[in-house]
Amino acid sequence: MSNFPATRNIVLTGFMGTGKTTVGRLLAERLNRPFVDMDDAIQAHFGKPIPDIFAQEGEAAFRAVEAELCRRFAREAGIVLSTGGGALVNPANREALAQTGVIICLTASVDEILKRVEQADDRPLLPGSQAERARRVRELLQARRPAYAAIRQQVDTTGYTPEQVVERVLEILEAEMEVPGMTRIPVQGPEGSYPICIGEGLLAHSGRLLRNRGLRPGPAAIVTNPMIAPHYAAPVAESLREAGFEPVICQMPEGEQHKTLETVASLYDQFLAAGLDRRSPVIALGGGVVGDTAGFAAATYLRGVPLVQIPTSLLAMVDSSVGGKTGVDLPQGKNLVGAFKQPVLVIIDPNVMATLPAPEFRAGLAEVIKHGIIGAPELFRQLEEHGPLNLTQLVADAVRVKVQVVEEDPFEQGRRATLNLGHTFGHAIELVSQFSIRHGEGVAVGLVAAGHMAADLGLCDRALADRITRVVERHELPISLQGYDIEAVMEAMAHDKKRAGKTLRFVVPYALGDVRLIDDPGPEVVYRALARVLQP
Ligand SMILES: NC(=O)c1ccc[n+]([C@@H]2O[C@H](COP(=O)([O-])OP(=O)(O)OC[C@H]3O[C@@H](n4cnc5c(N)ncnc54)[C@H](O)[C@@H]3O)[C@@H](O)[C@H]2O)c1
Ligand SMILES: [Zn+2]
Repeated sequence: MSNFPATRNIVLTGFMGTGKTTVGRLLAERLNRPFVDMDDAIQAHFGKPIPDIFAQEGEAAFRAVEAELCRRFAREAGIVLSTGGGALVNPANREALAQTGVIICLTASVDEILKRVEQADDRPLLPGSQAERARRVRELLQARRPAYAAIRQQVDTTGYTPEQVVERVLEILEAEMEVPGMTRIPVQGPEGSYPICIGEGLLAHSGRLLRNRGLRPGPAAIVTNPMIAPHYAAPVAESLREAGFEPVICQMPEGEQHKTLETVASLYDQFLAAGLDRRSPVIALGGGVVGDTAGFAAATYLRGVPLVQIPTSLLAMVDSSVGGKTGVDLPQGKNLVGAFKQPVLVIIDPNVMATLPAPEFRAGLAEVIKHGIIGAPELFRQLEEHGPLNLTQLVADAVRVKVQVVEEDPFEQGRRATLNLGHTFGHAIELVSQFSIRHGEGVAVGLVAAGHMAADLGLCDRALADRITRVVERHELPISLQGYDIEAVMEAMAHDKKRAGKTLRFVVPYALGDVRLIDDPGPEVVYRALARVLQP
């Protein structure tokens, strides 16, 4: 960490209860830097405590002094600054501080925030009973979400001690040194943590990123396919070479029909021929098919070698490259053989989507919309309106939802099931279409059906179901399909359920950011939801 420039400021911001003061103080101690607390500075300026400033001078006066102090602190060098939650809502404040420092936003779940501020009585924005406080926190968070979303570096503090949060902040500073502007999302896996690095042009830095993850120079396999290799194999190989690796390009055929054990066997051959040993990395460069197949090969070759995921499709970026599931299909069904294999590193370069066919991009958007509903309401709202600020933000916000869910449930025993929102419907429709529709299209229709099912059951407002429908439609994904027999789709569901030996389970939205599982809602309910999206 000694690398981070001594003169550059570190600015911690976030909502109340996210721990910015505690973490800021600890961080300043660790780095031997001066610590400045914006709230203290404001109180010193007015000569009275914050609740009194709000009560006697009003919020406008408070914000004006805050803005002045932002400009002043931006002129300091090498401080750790923690700023009140509302300070960076003003874009001018953000810009001033970003000139001379890196801004990191601490976040936490609403429940965690409520828990942490429970006993606090010096919070000017939180008067009243517990229920009123909860409502106020939700409202305020809602209002500030767009401002927080504009901050690239985010650290979710839910469930972490201040010391652990400091570690995460240090990792971000490290990333700023590696590639300035890179977004780094740490994932806490069952066998340790690994980073997801996101940034435009990141392919050209892949060699350095691998080295910094402790991978040893020597042979490295880049697994890719003939669609992707012509565009991206050379830049990755070049970057690896510069970092001291000996890259070997290992080809697998294009298409889901080659996500097979035969392909895995052919990869083993290529790994052996290239002289890969137990410490040599396998780098999956491609969509979900390459990621799953190369991942499984990496999980099993020599009982497991380090895996690096470089996803190139939107779906692979926001879904398949994160969470450690790898595997291949059998003639009897999809994904029937596989292993959990956590990558040591995920590198996402949104620029590669320039060559991604538009229908593939849209299919990935279905999963992005899904993640928005599950846990990124602000992203959902952006998708309803003008779209996200840029691809990096879109991918990062969607990835964060998946990260949060898999961190809670790495081996898919509980919460991870919520990632199947829209998928019970979607899978069955895909199956009945004999895979003539894309997975993403099935999911899109499935999201619409899940929204209506929830509304039919009175679990959410009809307005939410309508919003989901409109977002799906806005992104040129299907909201209904023609030529489908509802009974056939219901049979496909029942068959799937029998095979899995489970009850028929649906994930339904209660609200944006709140989805839950329901078991066996009954055939009439399922039929009704399907009837809304399928026409004969
Ligand atoms: N492991 C998991 O957790 C998980 C999760 C979801 C899906 N999956 C799996 O992912 C697979 C689907 O992934 P997918 O949608 O990425 O399909 P895919 O890998 O087949 O990619 C779609 C198409 O786009 C091409 N492509 C990808 N990136 C490109 C780029 N940048 N430029 C040009 N062409 C590009 C591919 O070659 C392919 O033709 C399925 O096999 C599914 O089972 C796995
Ligand atoms: Zn999916």
